[in-house]
Amino acid sequence: MIKKGIILAGGLGTRMSPLTKAVNKQLLPLFDKPLIFYPLSVLMLAGIKKILIIVNKGQLNQFRKILPEDNNLGISIEYKEQYRPGGLPQAFTIGEKFIGKDNVSLILGDNFFYGQSLTKILKSNINLKTGARIFIHPVKKPHLYGVASLDKNKKVINLVEKPKKTKSNLAVTGLYFFDNKVIEITKKLKPSKRGELEIIDLLNFYKRKNKLKAEFIGRGGSWLDTGSVNDFHDASNFISTIENRQGLKIACLEEIALKNNWIQNKHIKKAVNFYGNCDYSKYLKSLII
Ligand code: G1P
Repeated sequence: MIKKGIILAGGLGTRMSPLTKAVNKQLLPLFDKPLIFYPLSVLMLAGIKKILIIVNKGQLNQFRKILPEDNNLGISIEYKEQYRPGGLPQAFTIGEKFIGKDNVSLILGDNFFYGQSLTKILKSNINLKTGARIFIHPVKKPHLYGVASLDKNKKVINLVEKPKKTKSNLAVTGLYFFDNKVIEITKKLKPSKRGELEIIDLLNFYKRKNKLKAEFIGRGGSWLDTGSVNDFHDASNFISTIENRQGLKIACLEEIALKNNWIQNKHIKKAVNFYGNCDYSKYLKSLII
């Protein structure tokens, strides 16, 4: 069972400079909310209540302003600073104390997931006892991502990070479930040519032991990139189209907490005070009428 989740919200966001010069990328607006709301909402939809957010050194206060410690969400949020970006698996050594003896989920702070199947898939994998789970989705440009090749029985037979050429179009999304061995395995990893620990090396370790399973997010689900300014813009448009059409918000943290029975109406009222007079607050008010 996975009860803890780490959001890796470090990184320099250099591809989006100058926007990211002073502000962490995960705090930039993806339509009407800071980007960090979206990965956090995914963990909450999975039922995870203990969260660690790893941020760049010196940027902690920026996050605390948006997600205060007394966060009204019925969850606990801890923060840790990352001194030097050293690759995604660093999350497990930085988060070693937080993880303790438990299994853990990792989500990259800039990943956006959406779709009706999502909660179902999350819930059906949250019971993980041993091994690791990846969540895969077809993309047109697989060379930009970690890529998985599966055999006829949907077994992962190959995993490569940003291959120049590949026959597979299945990207490994930035959501991972691991058993507790992940800490020990991370400590054995050696930096790659670019001087960082690689998530693909970690996953390959599990694969070699026959302990890696891949889940499809499903054709009706969406996994969008927020890597560049254009991607950000496209993802924002996607969210605005859906929200404006349906009148329902994607990644409204308080709404998820309320539906999970983690908070009550009084917390929604507190949240309205916290956010002030804005569209998000209007939406929150509509939840408790
Ligand atoms: C990272 C991972 C890659 C994964 C991607 C998902 O790449 O290394 O395997 O497919 O996240 O967002 P990055 O986007 O950090 O280059």
